[in-house]
Amino acid sequence: MSPIPKDRKKLTPIPSLTDADFSVVRTALFEHQVVVFKNQSHVSPRAQFELTQRFDPAATSYGHGATLDAKRSILHPDLKTIPHQPQVQVIGNGFVPSYEGLTKITLKHPHHRTFHATAIPDAEDRDFTRFYRWHIDAALYGLAPPIATTLLAVRVPGGRLQTCRYDDGTGDELVVPLGTTAFVSGYAMYDALSAADQALARTTKVEYAPHPYIWMSGAKSRPDGLGMVSEGKEIPLSQLPEVEEDKIQILPMCWRNPVTGKLALQIHPSAVRKLHLGDGDRTTVLDNLAEVRELVHRLQRPGIAPQLVYAHDWEEGDLVLFHNRSVLHSVVGAFAPDEVRLFRQCNVAASTFPEGPNIEEGGGAATAVAA
Ligand SMILES: [Fe+2]
Repeated sequence: MSPIPKDRKKLTPIPSLTDADFSVVRTALFEHQVVVFKNQSHVSPRAQFELTQRFDPAATSYGHGATLDAKRSILHPDLKTIPHQPQVQVIGNGFVPSYEGLTKITLKHPHHRTFHATAIPDAEDRDFTRFYRWHIDAALYGLAPPIATTLLAVRVPGGRLQTCRYDDGTGDELVVPLGTTAFVSGYAMYDALSAADQALARTTKVEYAPHPYIWMSGAKSRPDGLGMVSEGKEIPLSQLPEVEEDKIQILPMCWRNPVTGKLALQIHPSAVRKLHLGDGDRTTVLDNLAEVRELVHRLQRPGIAPQLVYAHDWEEGDLVLFHNRSVLHSVVGAFAPDEVRLFRQCNVAASTFPEGPNIEEGGGAATAVAA
């Protein structure tokens, strides 16, 4: 990931950002991808929503819509909706007696052992961890991927360090603050590819599974959190909620930055089901799931190398704004049940789909639409 800027700018407070100050924030987001505001504990759920929505004023509903309610969704246990601001979710760890209209909630920081095919042994679990799941915040079925996500750290337990292992045979590992959120850049991921793979990425479209978070619920993740292992454990389409064909999404593999014009390699690795390989006017659909995943992993893995990861060291009051259309991010770490952590997350389903490569770059239509 490109260096995170350390310069601090004096802005009007978030609840009342002027248009000029918002313009500064918008440019910072699209140029730097992750923007950190310190000391923002005073920001209300409403103000957090308004900041998030300002990047896409026509967007109104939470990025996953109401699909979180599906009990079989892998997202269901991790998020609690704030009743008076349904685009804002509470996430974290431990028991919280009362918060913003939610009472007696028990939050659970996701642990990799619930999602990965293998796990770090219990005896090492305090000191070693993994990336839980690299992802984009997006429903990938029906609703368009949100432009921006905001995360506000309301309560952060005392910090210590853990070593995040990739456990993929490379020996790669990274020392991270407990409970960090890890980010990698889709631009760096694209730039790391060979010229041939960049051309492949520019001419390929990614088809996501219908109801992807239910579909993947039977399967398990690779140890690096970057996509699933292929054991035929996905939920068969016949056992998913009704599939509406027009909600299935086929999106470009590269998404264009609206300010810089750069292309990000931007794939949700665990939700991908097919690849549409472009070759001039012809398209070949690769639908062997194991092959699809191997190809996607080969393209993405260099982009999560330890030196390319930004692991945010959370302090209470941090409000992190990230460009959801150019980064992948992951939960990391494991908390004890009595370590209380409370965060608020907000994103809104976008009013338009991301722009892909143009015709000259080998892309198809300038703007992808749902299938
Ligand atoms: Fe997320």
